[in-house]
Amino acid sequence: MSERSSSDPSGSQYLLAIESTCDETAAAVLARDGRVLGECIATQESLHERFAGVVPEIAARAHLERILPVIDTSMRQACVDSSNICAIAVATHPGLPGSLLVGLSAAKALALAWSKPLIGINHVQAHIYACGIGKPESIFPCVGLVVSGGHTNLYRCNSPIDWVYLGGTIDDAAGEAFDKVAVMLGLPFPGGPYLSKLAVQGDPESIAFPRPLLDDPSRLDFSFSGLKTAVRYHIAGAGNRDWTSAIMSDRQRADVAASFEQAVIDCLVVKSMLAVERTKLNRLCVGGGVAANRRFREQLQRACDRRGTELHIADPSLCTDNAVMGALAWERYSVGDTDTLELDAQPGLLRHRTK
Ligand code: KG4
Ligand code: ZN
Repeated sequence: MSERSSSDPSGSQYLLAIESTCDETAAAVLARDGRVLGECIATQESLHERFAGVVPEIAARAHLERILPVIDTSMRQACVDSSNICAIAVATHPGLPGSLLVGLSAAKALALAWSKPLIGINHVQAHIYACGIGKPESIFPCVGLVVSGGHTNLYRCNSPIDWVYLGGTIDDAAGEAFDKVAVMLGLPFPGGPYLSKLAVQGDPESIAFPRPLLDDPSRLDFSFSGLKTAVRYHIAGAGNRDWTSAIMSDRQRADVAASFEQAVIDCLVVKSMLAVERTKLNRLCVGGGVAANRRFREQLQRACDRRGTELHIADPSLCTDNAVMGALAWERYSVGDTDTLELDAQPGLLRHRTK
């Protein structure tokens, strides 16, 4: 599927990156040195809120309405036209099939109309690449933790695109657990940021929620489904039949939020440090929506400081889905590795080897 091309014949210098893997429609115009010339993200939160989760069909239709205005806005903001674009990058995997196809179709249409090369990128790899954007030194090799609404996985990242899967969630992703517990607490969607805000007022040690797989050092895996159920039973035990927060006091809700958040953080921190120890790579890079969580960032930093491990966490603005992390495509472009118009979307995650 991929194709080798000679160096850029037009002398143009920017990458147009497109992201539409889930419920964010995003585009960015990116310089090779990490500068962002233009960026536009259209969120769909209000469309999915009443379902308390992303509805794939709604997401795909919303992408269709937004993709061209989003691309147009990022190009205008950057004050560039097609002559300044040297390649079109698009996230092709993993993601929701309908959502991926909208971004990919737009990227292909522009590649054809403008006669530019197309570069498909792995969205999970882009989340880790975001940790190094604009930094003078390479962040590779490293242990990569991708912790988002769809993934909670650890990798040995030999290079930006040569990865080996080390372990990951065997059921829910951490962000998914945040979102589901947030629903139980009556918080808006997506629940992660709201839950962490509520948690600030609670006591993280007030409820002893389980830390699944934490005591098993033989595995670099996570499991959040049982933790989520434990929260549900705790809330039900407070006398609430439908597991909503209606009869919980504000203090009780905050304690549940803080204790749940702490249980997730403990699992993420312990397994990440174990991966660092196992791989003997003393550098940890973390990306994905949950990496925006303030308490998680602080506690992981402390754990890394104790061990003398170098930590790179993506800037909070680059943790949730965005097109700037599509700068990953420069890695392929710079060696003339581009794709043909036969490039296809691959919704499933290639777990064991993500190359
Ligand atoms: O990376 P992302 O935008 O999309 C996926 O690729 O899944 O991650 C979205 C996830 C959601 O589950 C959201 O609730 C969670 O990241 N999230 C957070 C925070 N900000 C976003 N979870 C916990 N604390 C946060 N501050
Ligand atoms: Zn993502």
